[in-house]
Amino acid sequence: MKRIHSILVAFILLAFACSLASAFDPSPLQDFCVAINDNKDGVFVNGKFCKDPKLAVADDFFFSGLNKPGNTSNLVGSNVTTVNVDQIPGLNTLGISLVRIDFAPYGGLNPPHTHPRGTEILLVVEGTLYVGFVTSNPDNRLFTKVLHPGDVFVFPIGLIHFQFNIGETKAVAFAGLSSQNPGVITIANAVFGSNPPINPDVLAKAFQLDKTVISIFSPDSGQINE
Ligand SMILES: *[C@@H]1O[C@H](CO)[C@@H](O)[C@H](O)[C@H]1NC(C)=O
Ligand SMILES: *[C@@H]1O[C@H](CO)[C@@H](O)[C@H](O)[C@H]1NC(C)=O
Repeated sequence: MKRIHSILVAFILLAFACSLASAFDPSPLQDFCVAINDNKDGVFVNGKFCKDPKLAVADDFFFSGLNKPGNTSNLVGSNVTTVNVDQIPGLNTLGISLVRIDFAPYGGLNPPHTHPRGTEILLVVEGTLYVGFVTSNPDNRLFTKVLHPGDVFVFPIGLIHFQFNIGETKAVAFAGLSSQNPGVITIANAVFGSNPPINPDVLAKAFQLDKTVISIFSPDSGQINE
């Protein structure tokens, strides 16, 4: 009995310690915690120090410029403009952020990527997007949809997803994410463009490709450059 009791106490202490050590975004301890870089008199929460709430101003919660399209003249034909805690310090601890995504006419792609810390809810305001996400192992089910202006789609936290412009015109979407700093892992860049490069033998085996193909994908890995 005594033993069970001490196990229980240890378990409760552990749970308490974990909740202190790894606060998930939506756990504000006060109305807000405007992020500052200066740690003088600051309280450290979620990687940022809080401004004294009495000194907070409206601009701490403000961003302007999401009406401007991002430049899509790049290899993938898309551009993500982020509005997270780095742009709006007042988002600190509030568990939410926003992006604008621009797509070049037919073929603009926001390539397969994941947000390790946030679920995404996407609204198309212009153009036609083919979007999808893939569930985790072992099923790896693909869920896809063609979206038109006014359509909304959800990409669950952590899952690989993409958006592809299949329309003749440019496309524009806005998305909310359930983190002040959802993070992005672009699969191709992370796997084939890591720094330093992953050993080509690893990638050749993992993707069942010839090693020379890996070298073309990731020019920095050495052998072939053009
Ligand atoms: C996205 O657009 C902005 C604004 O035009 C530009 O400064 C930035 O370089 C673009 N990013 C990419 C990856 O093309
Ligand atoms: C977009 O980026 C391309 C390539 O960097 C550049 O040549 C072009 O001038 C940019 N367009 C605008 C509107 O800034």
